[in-house]
Amino acid sequence: MLEAVQLTKRYSSIPAVQDLSFALRPGQVIGCLGPNGSGKSTTVKMLTGLLEPSRGVVRFDGRNIQDDLQGYRRVLGYVPEEAHLYPYLSGWEYLEMIATLRGMPWSEIKTKLDSLLELFSLHPHRHASIATYSKGMRQRILLIAAIMHNPQIFIFDEPLSGLDVTSALIFKNLVQELGRGGKLVFYCSHVLEVVEKVCTDVLILRKGVVIAQDSVANIGQILGQSLENTFLHLVDDVDTMSVAHDIVEVMGAA
Ligand SMILES: Nc1ncnc2c1ncn2[C@@H]1O[C@H](COP(=O)(O)OP(=O)(O)O)[C@@H](O)[C@H]1O
Ligand SMILES: [Mg+2]
Repeated sequence: MLEAVQLTKRYSSIPAVQDLSFALRPGQVIGCLGPNGSGKSTTVKMLTGLLEPSRGVVRFDGRNIQDDLQGYRRVLGYVPEEAHLYPYLSGWEYLEMIATLRGMPWSEIKTKLDSLLELFSLHPHRHASIATYSKGMRQRILLIAAIMHNPQIFIFDEPLSGLDVTSALIFKNLVQELGRGGKLVFYCSHVLEVVEKVCTDVLILRKGVVIAQDSVANIGQILGQSLENTFLHLVDDVDTMSVAHDIVEVMGAA
C-alpha cells in the first residue's frame, strides 16, 4: 500500500499542497484532478521522492520512502509532466540507458524494448535521434521508460499530453488493465473525462487543498450530479463565458 499522510509543501509562505492524505491499494487507480496550479505536480514529486515534503510523510508498505529511495524507485514507474530526454540519443539508446541504470538483465532489455517499441509504433524510428521526434513520440518513449521494468506503482502526471488519439486510447486501456492486474496507479490530469473513465477513485485539488475525495461512483452521487458538473462546481470560480467575451472585446478595441 502507498500511503500519503498529511502531505504539505511550501515553496514560499503559501503552501502549494496542504494536508493531503490518501491510501492507494493494489487494484486502485486514483485520479488526481485539479486545474493548473492546484498542486498536482507538487503532489506527484512528493510521491516519487523527488521533493521532500515540508510536513507529512509518504509510506510504501509501511516504510517512509525517503529512508530507501533507491529501493522505492525500483518498484516505481513515473511519467513526469515535462520530458527531460537527451536529444542527441536515439530512442533506443535512451531506453537502453534507463534499463541498464535500473539493472535489467541484457537479454530482457533487448526483447522487451523491441516489443514495447513495436506496440507503441516507434520501432521504425528507434534509431533516429530524439531531437527529430514529435511531442507524442517523446511521450511514448517516456511511457515505455516508466513501464518496462514492470513496477508495482505507477505515477502518471498528465500522461496524455501530446499523444495522438490511438496512443491515448491504448494508454487509457492500459491504465485500466494495470488496475485490474493489481497494480497501484496514481493518475494526474486536469482533464476530467479520462479520469472518469479509467479511475476507481478520485481526489480533487483546488489551490493545494483536497476538496473532494471518494470513489468515482460515489462522488457524483453525493452531490447529485455527474462528475463533470461536480468538478466544475467545485473548482471553477471563473466565469469562462464572460472571460472569452472580454477577450474578443479587447481584440476588437482600437
Ligand atoms: N518550484 C517551485 N517554486 C515555487 N512555486 C512553485 C514551484 N513549483 C510549483 N509552484 C507553485 O505551486 C503551485 C502548484 O503548482 P503545481 O504543483 O505545478 O500544480 P499543477 O501540477 O496542478 O498545475 C502553483 O501555484 C505553482 O506556481
Ligand atoms: Mg502539473
